[in-house]
Amino acid sequence: MSGPGIFRHGARLPVQAPAAAISLAEGDTPLVALSADSRIATGGAAVAVKCEFLNPTGSFKDRIAAVAATRAREHGRNGVVGMSSGNGGAAIAAYAARAGLPLTLFTVPGAPAAKLDQVRAHGAHVIELRGLGHDAAATARAAAELVRAAQVHGREPFVTARSYCPDAMAGARTIAYELAEQAPDATAVYAPIGGGGLFASIWHGYRELAAQLPGPLPRLVAVQPRGCPTVRRTLEGAGAQLEQPATTAISGLQVAVLFDDADVVAALDRTGGHLVEVDDDVVWDVQARLARRDGMLVEPAGAVALAGLEADVRAGRVGPGDRVVTIATGAGFKDAAAIRRLGGEAPLDAVELNDVERILETTGSML
Ligand SMILES: Cc1ncc(COP(=O)(O)O)c(C=O)c1O
Repeated sequence: MSGPGIFRHGARLPVQAPAAAISLAEGDTPLVALSADSRIATGGAAVAVKCEFLNPTGSFKDRIAAVAATRAREHGRNGVVGMSSGNGGAAIAAYAARAGLPLTLFTVPGAPAAKLDQVRAHGAHVIELRGLGHDAAATARAAAELVRAAQVHGREPFVTARSYCPDAMAGARTIAYELAEQAPDATAVYAPIGGGGLFASIWHGYRELAAQLPGPLPRLVAVQPRGCPTVRRTLEGAGAQLEQPATTAISGLQVAVLFDDADVVAALDRTGGHLVEVDDDVVWDVQARLARRDGMLVEPAGAVALAGLEADVRAGRVGPGDRVVTIATGAGFKDAAAIRRLGGEAPLDAVELNDVERILETTGSML
């Protein structure tokens, strides 16, 4: 019952034939320790980054897309229809291509061009859906309608939330299966929250393995941009939908409705976790430090978990005895504008070969 990529956990995944699954060798992403420079900002706690940005299309969504595409083929679907802020779309575009199935994808207005280019490169039909992501009611309606329409038209739906596509979301549980092997004694796992599907899936994955871990489950800590406070509202009993559009600029986390609200609340309650909210400009700073001090180029959403951990260190919520994992969810190339902000946009100097000596004498010190 084992297969390639995440399907080495085939017995736990809702597919019929793991050995024949649609896989691009996703999963089994490395855990990389933070550099000494970055550890200063985390108060000396042992911190490892789960490099989900190293998945085949550059985000954790590949795990979900692999299961969705495999199920689509196993159930004889004639195509896939999905909605996405970009990364899920890029993932399902690649896996649908691999499965030989056409994809129709509805995207959040304003999604980074690089994500949309990636989707289109795989041959998908991409359409912007007004209100998606930013407007809570429109987003919830769209998710329900896509699942319904997919059924009517013999397509596989792709909405990366447990409340809409629980089977495909089983793919994201494999993150917890891997962490149970890679960091069995982790005391806390920090993950970013958009619609909540990632966080809910990590929780369900850990629950399945609870008996095999040497100690209690790690605290699952949800990190969300302050400009999209769906978790705070849910915890305050104000509902899982924002009344105003989300204001965060962080692509992937502009989801005005917490789709998997009950799971997120249960994960926080049952593991002793909590919510941390972070400002976008703090996230840009952490993204820059990950690039310049740690050699890891992630998109802004991929730096959110670490930004949350650093806020907790400053608040005294994490101690030197903690062993923490932060989930770095998406690759830097996904958001070209954000990368340009890091690197600067000044035109390159052009020189002759005999200028090299002079240049090395005057440059080379660390930034
Ligand atoms: C890079 C990245 N990180 C985190 C998330 C949030 O995941 P979820 O919507 O499952 O909470 C997304 C969702 O699109 C994403 O693209």
